[in-house]
Amino acid sequence: MQYTTLGRTRLRVSVAGLGTGGFSRMGLKSGKTEEEAARLILEAVDLGINFIDTAPPYGTEGVVGRALKSIPRDSVVIATKSTVYRNDERWTPARVVASLDNSLRLLGTDYVDVFNLHGVEPQEYDYAVTVLAPALAEQKRKGKIRHIGLTENPIVDFTNAMLKRALQDPVWEVFMVGFHMMHQGARANVFPVTREKGIGTLLMFAVRSIFADPPRVARELRELAAKGLVEKWLGETDDPLGFLVHEGGAANMIEAAYRFARHEPGVDVVLFGTGDAGHLRSNVASLLKPPLPDADRTKLAALFGHLTGVGLDSHQFRARSTA
Ligand SMILES: NC(=O)c1ccc[n+]([C@@H]2O[C@H](COP(=O)([O-])OP(=O)(O)OC[C@H]3O[C@@H](n4cnc5c(N)ncnc54)[C@H](OP(=O)(O)O)[C@@H]3O)[C@@H](O)[C@H]2O)c1
Repeated sequence: MQYTTLGRTRLRVSVAGLGTGGFSRMGLKSGKTEEEAARLILEAVDLGINFIDTAPPYGTEGVVGRALKSIPRDSVVIATKSTVYRNDERWTPARVVASLDNSLRLLGTDYVDVFNLHGVEPQEYDYAVTVLAPALAEQKRKGKIRHIGLTENPIVDFTNAMLKRALQDPVWEVFMVGFHMMHQGARANVFPVTREKGIGTLLMFAVRSIFADPPRVARELRELAAKGLVEKWLGETDDPLGFLVHEGGAANMIEAAYRFARHEPGVDVVLFGTGDAGHLRSNVASLLKPPLPDADRTKLAALFGHLTGVGLDSHQFRARSTA
């Protein structure tokens, strides 16, 4: 495994981070037991992964807690989250603290390394920073939280609008950012300032649903080409990203997607989720490979750097172009 420093938190973290949410939820969604899911977490730890991301809505905090019983607490960096707004209701500071306390109970620990406000949308940002952040700072003083962070919701916030505002506020030590081969906005919107200010970055959506599904890539590029948002030839082939797979390049599209994300300047940890031990091993192997060849990175930036909103969700297709 390769390790890096998570911005000014100074936490030493593996460049591959285990996401226990996403579509797989460590396999719980496809019928794995909690015991099996916890074993998969321990397999990840055996591969050198020491960053584990969870959240109450994932239903995996108990699974992480189960795995934690077999390893020293300080051998892993645990991140969890709290909702800010749901069902037309803003969560009060008391409710967020109750959520933290419940997470600690399920995780079987008395602190989390990173506590994130979850999927904060731009219109909730003022509330998050003025009302909730002071309550989190108080929990940090009590030792229940080591570092405070924010995650964006790229499915509705295509342009990193929330994080662009949060860059100005010193309370946030960690951001979780959506970024992938066809959603590259964070390169200009987020990473230059997170690097300057030492905000640690956790990357989500490197593969998401799109790059694990080659027919979907072809389908979406056909639609984008029809709208004139990408070059015409990309809509005329069943393997539009085939140019990435060659000797000296990537072995397949998923490997390309992880290598692309991992080596983007400003990215600290690339999160991935899986319920499959084979995928776990191959994803770690991909993340440990060198950057894609310069010519391929340049081509990806030229072909798709202007797009935003592609392949972020499993059910919707709401591509935009910033060009
Ligand atoms: N706003 C937020 O805070 C937020 C939102 C989304 C995600 N997250 C975090 O980010 C983590 C990553 O989520 P994500 O949305 O980027 O998606 P993801 O969970 O990484 O999704 C990857 C998908 O591709 C499949 N996959 C993974 N490796 C594969 C391989 N080698 N070959 C074929 N299929 C493969 C997985 O299914 P298999 O089970 O079959 O491998 C999964 O369905 C989440 O677990 C969560 O911790 C946070």
